Amino acid sequence: MRETYRVADRCRVCGSAHLWQFLSLGDSPLANAFVRPGTPTPDPRYPLALVKCEDCTQVQLTVVVRPEILFRDYAYASSASSSMIEHFRAMAGAITSRYATRGTLVVEIGSNDGVLLRPLAAAGARVLGVEPAENLAAVANAAGVETWNAFFSLSLARRIVVEKGQARVVVANNVMAHIDDLDDLTQGLNALLDGDGVFVAEVPYLVELLDRVEFDTVYHEHLSYFSISALRTLFARRGLELFDVKRETVHGGSLRLHVGRPGRHPLTAGLTATLEDESRREMHDRVPYQEFARRVVVARDALRSLVHTLRTQGKRIAGYGAAAKGNTLLNYCGLASDDIEFIVDSTPYKQGLLAPGTRIPVVPESWILDRQPDYALLLAWNHAEAIVRKNAEYVRRGGRFILPLPVARVMD
Ligand code: TYD
Ligand code: ZN
Repeated sequence: MRETYRVADRCRVCGSAHLWQFLSLGDSPLANAFVRPGTPTPDPRYPLALVKCEDCTQVQLTVVVRPEILFRDYAYASSASSSMIEHFRAMAGAITSRYATRGTLVVEIGSNDGVLLRPLAAAGARVLGVEPAENLAAVANAAGVETWNAFFSLSLARRIVVEKGQARVVVANNVMAHIDDLDDLTQGLNALLDGDGVFVAEVPYLVELLDRVEFDTVYHEHLSYFSISALRTLFARRGLELFDVKRETVHGGSLRLHVGRPGRHPLTAGLTATLEDESRREMHDRVPYQEFARRVVVARDALRSLVHTLRTQGKRIAGYGAAAKGNTLLNYCGLASDDIEFIVDSTPYKQGLLAPGTRIPVVPESWILDRQPDYALLLAWNHAEAIVRKNAEYVRRGGRFILPLPVARVMD
């Protein structure tokens, strides 16, 4: 049998072997591997731990689970909520005006159902999506957004150039953290981008992870946790130049990067300011990571103790949103079905399944009013505002929401 995962003993950015482990969340099941009821075999677990590269500050997982296993029973669903659609519309507008994409080729890696490419095409760009999920690629094609059902790679980039020419802009939102082989990605970009071409990407930001104790966003699909310093090194080593960064509020704190060929685009004040901020925070040092690891333990103990106090008082608790991050949280905090009765979720394919590891049943959102649990733990805290807003009736009847992070608290 082939190994189900490999140990990543080199830095994915600079190749260094000087990796220092600062956080272990134990052995955890795959966060999106929801389980059919009655499955007799235990949910497979893999080490979940973070290391920092002592040479370039890259933060990454200690293991890489084989993609065939990671994505085996993965039911891909477009997560395009109305706030995400708005976010991508604004991003399309920004790209169109800044890079004059009318009449040029724009390629998106991980293009989902075409949510970003549609407004770009409407503004006159020639667009091409690259999307590994078959059903999403089909939806995009049906809607008139040409989408190749494939993983991006150097060889795919060469094929695009032959068939479509070079691209003015290549976009990749929430893709880079999933890619093991960043050399292949950057070589693909080098082949695909025209002389003034720009790579625009959004990645979760390491500083947000540390500041807001978002340890639940650590799961096996997220291989890398980028700082600006590491990203600058990554591109510089491969003949590209990071010239602009901006912080965005989506997904609990992201970075939008702009990367081009060296010397073709002025380095922006945003980049300088963020680099200075990282150097003030001493991101090359061990201290911020040790402090983070300490706060993770505090957060775990606070949530466990809140839940156990409420349970001792006979209160009933449900989870709200069967997000991948919720599964990291519950498994690390050792909360299972005797504490959390059920998890409500709006995604049809998750309903009727059990959360990995904890085996808590996932049920429709209507259960919140049907069962009226005393407390609802916001596992999908990135959607807290929308969830609280639409559950006014639950609150009116006496239900309360719990925010798990950075330290568990019952919302007023
Ligand atoms: P998501 O934001 O995709 O987080 P992750 O990347 O950690 O999986 O997950 C949000 C989950 O919350 C998703 O399964 C849908 C669910 N959800 C609801 O059930 N109701 C809601 O009103 C919202 C906004 C989300
Ligand atoms: Zn490194």
